[in-house]
Amino acid sequence: AFSVEEQQFNDLIEADSRIEPRDWMPEGYRRSLVRQISQHAHSEIIGMQPESNWITRAPSLKRKAILMAKVQDEAGHGLYLYSAAQTLGATRDDMTDALIAGKARYSSIFNYPTPSWADMGSIGWLVDGAAICNQVPLCRASYGPYGRAMVRICKEESFHQRQGFEILLELMQGTAEQRQMAQDSVDRWYWPALMMFGPPDDDSPNSAQSMAWKIKRHSNDELRQRFVNMLVPQAAVLGVTLPDSDLHFNEETQQWDLGEIDWTEFHEVLAGRGANNAQRLQRRRDAHEEGRWVREAAAAYASKQTARKES
Ligand code: ACO
Repeated sequence: AFSVEEQQFNDLIEADSRIEPRDWMPEGYRRSLVRQISQHAHSEIIGMQPESNWITRAPSLKRKAILMAKVQDEAGHGLYLYSAAQTLGATRDDMTDALIAGKARYSSIFNYPTPSWADMGSIGWLVDGAAICNQVPLCRASYGPYGRAMVRICKEESFHQRQGFEILLELMQGTAEQRQMAQDSVDRWYWPALMMFGPPDDDSPNSAQSMAWKIKRHSNDELRQRFVNMLVPQAAVLGVTLPDSDLHFNEETQQWDLGEIDWTEFHEVLAGRGANNAQRLQRRRDAHEEGRWVREAAAAYASKQTARKES
């Protein structure tokens, strides 16, 4: 037998209705949301780094402006998501401290380097493409503030995905060297992008409960499959090859069967041993230190204002 509150919660979930911040919710539901939303927020913030690496070197003023706007969008996404987590009682300070102490997770994908301009194309096409596939169903997440934040984030991500596709398309219509640069970049980003969807379903400890709570609507493997099905025709338009020699169309399921994913690499990156993990965290720590005076000034100003109002 459930308590009255718990029964109400279950009924809301059952009816595909939304849970709002003031509603009663099981402690596990709250914890799992804080976990997922804060990891998602951290990913957006750390995700600014691989691309900001190219802002000063983008090949034209127009490309610089587009890239700068895109990186700024990622900051905005991080901020909405931190705010959504705050409605569950998490504090910005705790979340930030966990990130800079290296105790919080963020997406594996942002621990890979961006040595060429084509990587800006691959990040848009593959990384933001994977993000959209994973995040469109999250617009229907049972927790209101999370689902609503995802609506705007997904609109912006679709724009990001197109600008990445367009960068690759332009390179693929260029010189042999430019085409090679685009292909090399796709070769480096393809598999890590597939890993963004998380471990295979039989190795995903959080999925069953998250799906029962309607936070997640599809399993990791389902979304990964949907993504590959979407990529194949787009790769043909671009004229790039997806670096999977086992990739083939399965007539029976009408899906593209993919080769083996290197899960050892995934676990290494999660354990902090990816190419750029240490650098990403150090940069985030430095930025936090450099911003200290701003936070202190803002806090001093706020307390002066409060004191003035009280006197
Ligand atoms: N990178 C880092 N950690 C990951 C990744 C990944 N690609 N995939 C899974 N994990 C972690 C999970 O966070 C979980 O860790 P935890 O239990 O310590 O919190 C663990 O691996 C096991 O995975 P699952 O049980 O499958 O976890 P979950 O059900 O949360 O599914 C997923 C993972 C699909 C990433 C989910 O959390 C999600 O949809 N999150 C929202 C989207 C998101 O965070 N995107 C970030 C990248 S996109 C972008 O920022 C542009």
